[in-house]
Amino acid sequence: MQRRETDVLVVGAGIAGLATALSADRKGADVTLVTKAVQPTEASTWRAQGGIAITRSDPDSLKADILDASGGTASETAVDVLVEHADEAVREVLVDTIGVEFDTDSTGEYEFGREAAHKEPRVLHVNAETGKHIHVPFLNYVLEETDVTVLDDTAALELVSHEGRIHGAVLERAGKWAPTFAGATVLATGGIGGLYQRTTNPPSTTGDGIAMAALAGARVEDMEFIQFHPTGCETDTGTFLISEAVRGEGAVLRNAAGKRFMPAEHPDAELAPRDVVARAVMREHERTGGVELDVTGIDFSANFPGLAATCETHDVDWETGIPVIPVQHFLCGGIAVDDVGKTSLDGLFAVGECARTGVHGANRLASTSLLEGLVWGLRAGEAATGHRITTIESPELLDRDPALPANFAQQKFVRLRSVMEESLGVVRSPSEIDTARAGLRRLKGEVDAYVRTRTSRSLYELRAATIVAVLVARAAAENEQSVGCHHVNPSTDTTAEGETMRPSSGS
Ligand code: SIN
Repeated sequence: MQRRETDVLVVGAGIAGLATALSADRKGADVTLVTKAVQPTEASTWRAQGGIAITRSDPDSLKADILDASGGTASETAVDVLVEHADEAVREVLVDTIGVEFDTDSTGEYEFGREAAHKEPRVLHVNAETGKHIHVPFLNYVLEETDVTVLDDTAALELVSHEGRIHGAVLERAGKWAPTFAGATVLATGGIGGLYQRTTNPPSTTGDGIAMAALAGARVEDMEFIQFHPTGCETDTGTFLISEAVRGEGAVLRNAAGKRFMPAEHPDAELAPRDVVARAVMREHERTGGVELDVTGIDFSANFPGLAATCETHDVDWETGIPVIPVQHFLCGGIAVDDVGKTSLDGLFAVGECARTGVHGANRLASTSLLEGLVWGLRAGEAATGHRITTIESPELLDRDPALPANFAQQKFVRLRSVMEESLGVVRSPSEIDTARAGLRRLKGEVDAYVRTRTSRSLYELRAATIVAVLVARAAAENEQSVGCHHVNPSTDTTAEGETMRPSSGS
């Protein structure tokens, strides 16, 4: 890895990172985009199914649905930015520039899908495999049609920081590391699904950007708001997502007794906001022993051929009901940013899932994450352009003691994921959160001891995961109110006498 200088350093190559790189390149900046991925499939964007919501010239209606799904906790100012720029960004970048062909009906008009908590159909999609049809052409466009330098298999280990300003990052490739100094550094590192046992995210989502930003002193907010998708399908051969678009078409949820339970839960039944459906599915799972998605009322194989094929690959007979369980899906919080992606630190921006724009509040509306990444990426790319590059002393990463116990990172990840899954899942109890917080702090201490003398990508990913896990546990412990994705159920905390209690929080 060579020491480099660049106007704009973008870390992460999902839709948000690509949009940032494109827009900074259009402004004439020298842009370097790095991704630790080797294959495009390693980005959450590639895995997105449902699609991308647009306003269809009715911004107020999309805004109202975003605010409602969040239980009124989303930031109106941030949502205004999103809806104002949504249709233009999708048309200009996705359709006109990179040539995404969203599904159309027999008359050639766009076929808009409907998903949970959307009052009307407004989701552009390609089959239920929208992500890959955006990600691949976008990446190819940036590689072939712009001056952006793209470095794959390259990880950012640490930000270069001096007196509250960020001047780039230390990058690692093939076991060698060196600083890249940048006028502006943009984190687009995605979510934190790699901290959970069951997730729709790729395993590489270890919260690297959030951890680096937090270590450098950036403000991080709303980390307790972790969205679980109600219809993950867990099999012996892997966990995969059954898009909400399937319920949008009319599929229904049944418990192990074959009974629909969502109509009694919410007026919108299976199309209630995601947090409501996830809690109900979890409860019925525990109460009756299982939940299935019944797709017999829709033309599943014709409308969702990719999903039907995935079911068959995993030996799931969709004709008799698809077994589903809530799985970690999206982080609504993250690095706090303004309406152009600027963080609380000079020279540092964040976009996409690692950023907390305020658009999602405590619960995200379906099919708004690709849109948020696109809109904020384009805005951040412009705002990140035109800053002076300053080369300063870079942090010294040590490699004094190359020996690590065998399977060190894997074993610690197993422990971390089990705590996150058990105690920071769909429904949480105060005592479990406190126990988890203490255990995660111990784990972080054990990992930190190695990081002091050893530098490797897997160790830094583990360090990032432990930092982020502690941030999640702390945010969850500090928010005693159930709201959106953070549902605290104190009734599980009882003393021997049956009294509800709130144990003192671990330090
Ligand atoms: C889905 O297709 O159900 C996921 C869409 C989203 O998370 O926005």
